[in-house]
Parts: sequence; structure tokens; C-alpha cells
Amino acid sequence: MQMNEKQLRILKLKKEMDAVVLAHYYVTGDVQEVADYVGDSFYLSRVASRVQAKTIVMCGVRFMAESAKILSPEKNVLLPAADADCPMAHMVTAGQVRRVRAQHEDLAVVCYVNSTAELKGESDVCVTSANAVQIVRALPNRQIYFIPDENLGRFIAAQVPEKQFLFHQGFCPTHAFLSAEDVKAARRAHPDALLLVHPECRPEVVELANYAGSTAGILRFARESRAKTFLIGTEHGVLYDLAKENPDKCFYPLHPKQICPNMKRITLEKVIRAMESGFPSVFLEEEEIQRARRPLQRMLELSKAADSCGKEGN
Ligand code: 13P
Ligand code: SF4
Repeated sequence: MQMNEKQLRILKLKKEMDAVVLAHYYVTGDVQEVADYVGDSFYLSRVASRVQAKTIVMCGVRFMAESAKILSPEKNVLLPAADADCPMAHMVTAGQVRRVRAQHEDLAVVCYVNSTAELKGESDVCVTSANAVQIVRALPNRQIYFIPDENLGRFIAAQVPEKQFLFHQGFCPTHAFLSAEDVKAARRAHPDALLLVHPECRPEVVELANYAGSTAGILRFARESRAKTFLIGTEHGVLYDLAKENPDKCFYPLHPKQICPNMKRITLEKVIRAMESGFPSVFLEEEEIQRARRPLQRMLELSKAADSCGKEGN
């Protein structure tokens, strides 16, 4: 693929400053093209814990950059857009978690990685949508307090009926607005399409889907399916990768507005500016890093065989 001037500048800067670029599937295609690693949040945290370079440029949202810093504290971690933040990450407070913990015995606080470093520090283990079921099943505790995403929590609970769940009312604005009505309208327009959705969607949407799963699961399902047409109920960026991987198949968004505005704040210009200036870089207090590292490391240990999804790039 022919690179433009900005993309070539980033490739040059990577060499000069010993940097690796990590990109989530939800960032725009032109940014994904300059990344050394593109993947879902589980894959990116695994990569961040292992890479050797001095600097990590995280093309994603703040919680991803924070996780990279927590797992590799000696590295300089750049987040090219300081305001690329996931609203769900702030939908529960440390005080709320402590109160629930104090009221229940034999409780594990299970924290979706889409959360602040402070919340991770209050938790027993982190999960992503790619490894949550496997990890929750493996925990010795009978009661699970799942934070912050209620929809993902309920999706997991349905697959682990032997445990009791408490939920918090967090949600992803990019997925949770999708409705059963949207599914009906999209199916009228594409009657032969299979519907694949992310579990951050509401239960009424998940129930109508042919497949519900993580970004990794959606990409695998589409690759292995013999169907030719798909409706996709997750962030638009994934459609870029689906189309690239499956040129003989057609992918339509379930709704034109399923776009994460925060992921889209990462642009080639901002990546160049961050690499040239070394700003904005992620700073966390040493104590915060220590507290949040334990649940993140536990996630990596408990999910060795889980299905994360990603690929090496430039
Ligand atoms: P993944 O865990 O599939 O990467 O999704 C991240 C996310 O932000 C979903 O909204
Ligand atoms: Fe957060 Fe939703 Fe954006 Fe993912 S898609 S980063 S959960 S707002």
C-alpha cells in the first residue's frame, strides 16, 4: 500500500526514537496502517507488557494508554490525543466499589479494562470481552461484582450460571444506543445478512443476533462463516478490518452512528505532534501503578489461551 507523506514521517520517527505504535481496531484506517501492532484491547495489553522499545505510542483511548504504562512503567507512553477518553471508564467510583465490597463476603470485583487506573486498583482482576467468561469461571469466589459495563456483565452472567452477579449501571454510548428496532430496520434492508454484535450492546440486541462476542470473536466468525453478507453491531473501525480480511464478503453497519468519537480523535497529525514533542505522555503515581498492576497481571495469567485478536503491521 502506498503511504502518504504523514504516514512516512511517522515511520521515520519510529526508527529515530525507538518507538512502537499500537492501534486499536476502532481508530481510523490511515492510523492503523502505520501501527506495528493492531488489535483488540486484550491483544494490545499483551503486546504492551512485552515490547522492547523505549516509547509506546498508543493509538486508542486513555484506559489503553494507562494499561500500557501500568504493564510497562519504565517506558514512555504517548497518547496522541489527551482528550481521547472512554466515558464508561468513569461510570463507577472507587467509593461505590468499596461500599459493595464491605457489604458482601466471598465477592470478587471483576473490572472490565475499560476503566480508570484507580478503579483497576480497587479490583481483584481485570477482563476484556475476549477473556471475561474464561476468567470469571476460574475465580474461586461465588459472587461477582462486575464493573463498569452492565450489558457486558449480563452477557457473561448468562454463560456462568453457577455464580451470582451484581452489576453496576455503566454502559458504552457507542453500543448501548442500538435497539431491537434498529435490528428490524436493518434486517428489512438486508434480509440475507447475519447479524454480529459486541456484548456492550443491550440484551434486546444481543438476543436478536446470530453471533455476539468480542472484536476477536466477530472477526473470527466472519472469516470462518460461509455467509456472504453481514450486519455489524459494533464500532465502525472494525468494518475496515472485516472488509480488508474478507474481500469476497459484504459488511454493513447495523446503524450509521455506531462511531466512537474518542477513538476518532487520534489522527496522523496528532501522532506526529506527540512523537515530535513527547507530549501528551501518560503519568501515573507509583502507588497507582502498583495497585492497578496486580489485577491486570492476573488477567494476563488467567487468560493465556484466550482468543485475543491482532496483527503485526509496519
Ligand atoms: P475490545 O475489548 O473488543 O477491544 O473492545 C474495546 C472497546 O472499547 C469496546 O467498546
Ligand atoms: Fe469506550 Fe465505547 Fe468508545 Fe469502547 S467504543 S472506547 S467502550 S466509548
